Amino acid sequence: MKFFADTADTADIASLAATGLLDGVTTNPSLIAKSGRNFLDVIREIAALTPGPVSAEVVATDTTGMLREAEVLKKLGSNICIKLPLTLAGLTACKALSDEGTMTNVTLCFSANQALLAAKAGASFVSPFVGRLDDIGQEGMQLIADIRTIYDNYAFDTEILVASVRTPTHVLEAAKIGADVATMPPSVIRALAHHPLTDKGLAAFLDDWAKTGQTIA
Ligand code: G3P
Repeated sequence: MKFFADTADTADIASLAATGLLDGVTTNPSLIAKSGRNFLDVIREIAALTPGPVSAEVVATDTTGMLREAEVLKKLGSNICIKLPLTLAGLTACKALSDEGTMTNVTLCFSANQALLAAKAGASFVSPFVGRLDDIGQEGMQLIADIRTIYDNYAFDTEILVASVRTPTHVLEAAKIGADVATMPPSVIRALAHHPLTDKGLAAFLDDWAKTGQTIA
């Protein structure tokens, strides 16, 4: 399973990239606004921090405008993945971009039928938002399971990129279903490594080691 960081915070991305565990980055207009920085500058910087796909989202709502913006975004790095909304205009742009070999991520997916359309449009990734479905009382993870079944039924290559991930439990459930990617806030990636018994066990080992008076050299 690939791990993407869902952030536009370049310091956070650099520190996660240094672990060797980061496979890519996703951004959206809200994350760019939160960074307070120039969109194109941030994306260019992120693209240089990781070799993995970096999703940069268009803001036009018509296909022609989306394709025009995609041309600008593609120049920011060889690993740029054009993120498009799951609308008919976005799917049309997705088909045109995938036909020419450009990486695409179709976002704001909330139903399995939408995911089916994204696959038919040749999307490299589809982004179902589990947390936002949970927020309205639906089961986000059921959507991931449904998409997995459909994509496997027809051997679609589109990767299921689980988005709107809020907790380590979301990551665990998505991994059990066989989702291809989870994109998550850096805090969730770091939380995956944490267990209180690991901390407690390490403290005990270090205490006992100190009693030996030895060093490893
Ligand atoms: O990048 C899209 C997605 O991950 C947003 O998550 O927490 O705003 O629903 P959230």
